Amino acid sequence: QEKKILTLAGDGIGPEVMEQALHVLNWVQENSDLSFSVEKDLVGGASIDANGVPLTKEVIAKAKAADAVLFGSVGGPKWDGIGFDKRPEVGIIGLRKELGLFANLRSAIVFDSLIGASTVKPEVIQGLDLMIVRESTGGVYFGEPRGIETLPDGTRKGVNTEVYTSVEIERIARVAFELARQRQNRVCSVEKCNVMESGLLWKEVVTELHKKEYSDVQLSHMLADNCAMQLVRNPKQFDIILTGNLFGDILSDLAAMLTGSLGMLPSATLGARQANGVIPALYEPIHGSAPDIAGQGKANPLAQILSLAMMLRYSFDQQTISEKVVNACEAVLNQGLRTPDIMSQGMKLVGTADMGKAVLAE
Ligand code: NAI
Ligand code: MG
Repeated sequence: QEKKILTLAGDGIGPEVMEQALHVLNWVQENSDLSFSVEKDLVGGASIDANGVPLTKEVIAKAKAADAVLFGSVGGPKWDGIGFDKRPEVGIIGLRKELGLFANLRSAIVFDSLIGASTVKPEVIQGLDLMIVRESTGGVYFGEPRGIETLPDGTRKGVNTEVYTSVEIERIARVAFELARQRQNRVCSVEKCNVMESGLLWKEVVTELHKKEYSDVQLSHMLADNCAMQLVRNPKQFDIILTGNLFGDILSDLAAMLTGSLGMLPSATLGARQANGVIPALYEPIHGSAPDIAGQGKANPLAQILSLAMMLRYSFDQQTISEKVVNACEAVLNQGLRTPDIMSQGMKLVGTADMGKAVLAE
């Protein structure tokens, strides 16, 4: 059965790294019994230039009809003056909203040959492979009431509200438990139940669901501040970290930096299973459009290629071929090939296209 993939390369280095990922996708197509139809379209600044808006209705419809979306990155100084609700970033935010993508999966993987690129002690991160499952459509970033008001005495007040319902907590916890079964079967649920009501409910709902349906998975709980500390002290204690929007935002950046390079890390955002059985999913590198190096042919394409590998694994259930892609990325690193962002002494400096070619060869 043919799978529909929509690719949205976006702006800056997006199209440069996407090109390399598409070569790998072609290889997958030619070397497996999978068959894909790949459609390309515009998003972000590129869509503003062509259509006047960062996300067209047509693209939303195509994304909804697709089995998975492979996304590049959006944004750049060219569109900086544009109003808050028309800027390129609305391209990605709008897609997440339209597709109901509430689960953000960010992995932090350390490749052996890149250990020198991290500032963290080698023994702390060697072999690290953790995933943060972050709730991404609720919590304090969206809760009401919110706003800035001026009190009668002239004092100004900024308000945000952390809100989580049991429904929201249960569906994100379910994603984490399901993923755990495909990994090391361990989930650490992170909140601040010592000072937050939403955290208290979070812990309660996760515990209940675990007891009812996922008691085979090892579950632990941790306060968010302690988790930040533990991530720096001993990150390998974690397999999956399950958490809300705000803590997930911060902890996933922390985890990313443990690995030493932004250009290496893929992510996925998933929604709820539809009536037709499809789980809406969007795969993208965690990095942005890197305007400072765009158009120079030196962006690292590995995060985009690894995002494709995640797509093969989580949307198309192709564990073996996904691993082949990940292993090929690891092999080019072992060969000593490096884009400038991960360059170190004695290694061979290559550009985006040569890195892509080397992955293909492996
Ligand atoms: P960025 O991730 O684009 O760049 C940060 C730094 O990392 C830069 O020095 C860049 O050159 C480097 N870098 C990033 N990816 C790289 C790669 N693949 N290879 C080599 N070097 C790489 O983040 P920044 O500068 O904060 O944002 C730039 C633009 O991207 C902004 O407009 C921002 O809104 C947008 N952005 C978009 C995202 C998305 O599309 N999901 C996510 C993050 C930022
Ligand atoms: Mg992102």
